[in-house]
Amino acid sequence: MTSSQYPQALRPTPESFDKLYRGEPFFEGAPPPTGIPWDVRQAQPRLMELEALGGISGEVLDVGCGLGDNAIYLASRGHSVTGLDGSAAAIEQARSRAAEAGVRVSFAVADATDLSKYQGRFDTVVDSALYHCLDEEGRHAYLAALHAATRPGARLHLYCFSDGNINGLTAPMAAVSEANLRDTLTANGWQIDFLGPTTYMGNAAAFQGGEYPPQLMEQLDPEAADQVRAVAERYTRIAELIEGDRVYLPFTVVHAHRVD
Ligand SMILES: C[S@@+](CC[C@H](N)C(=O)[O-])C[C@H]1O[C@@H](n2cnc3c(N)ncnc32)[C@H](O)[C@@H]1O
Repeated sequence: MTSSQYPQALRPTPESFDKLYRGEPFFEGAPPPTGIPWDVRQAQPRLMELEALGGISGEVLDVGCGLGDNAIYLASRGHSVTGLDGSAAAIEQARSRAAEAGVRVSFAVADATDLSKYQGRFDTVVDSALYHCLDEEGRHAYLAALHAATRPGARLHLYCFSDGNINGLTAPMAAVSEANLRDTLTANGWQIDFLGPTTYMGNAAAFQGGEYPPQLMEQLDPEAADQVRAVAERYTRIAELIEGDRVYLPFTVVHAHRVD
């Protein structure tokens, strides 16, 4: 079982995300990225299904929206959507994707752990792969910030890395345990209605650059290093079989509502 958080040496920061979005190496000493692992140039299929089934309503927040494809899709379905991300480069590109798609989304740069500018604003929150990027303190601050940024009865749909396995593919690291989600959400005013396995569409091209540079690998504990190597090896082996560079990663979905 790997840690529920990124190893310190590989912990993503707002600066490292910004670099990746600008096509620069995510970590010092790493080769230029071969792609962005979550850039699939479309909304996540599981989120599209959720929307079709009526899971999205009122004022919507897509937090950690990245390049904006989920927010853009929800706006194209008639929802009023705000997309927030800590990376200015991501928000710049999200705005241009929204303009290309001809939809209106209110995109802005913001830190998800401090949403004081957005008090009492939202009815639905979508977190598509943000939670697992945060450390423990950040996760608590984030869920408390979401509580303050939402209205009574608001719903949260949170998708994060799980410790599952889909045809041999596992999360590269930072698989989040059910206990971690239950503790953090409950402690910050969210009641879980459903928690279970789901999938997240990823961009396989971004995983094919092999493992991290030796100076980073040396900083990982042996278990984390083995996990990183195993994931890189599997992607390398199956790369040519993957149609359109799309893979499905094992995720957990949580549907929760705000306790008033
Ligand atoms: C794995 S990406 C997922 C992007 C997008 N939601 C998707 O599914 O395509 C995580 C995103 O969270 C953003 N992020 C990480 N920490 C953040 C923070 N504290 N505040 C706001 N955004 C953050 C990153 O910049 C990145 O765009």
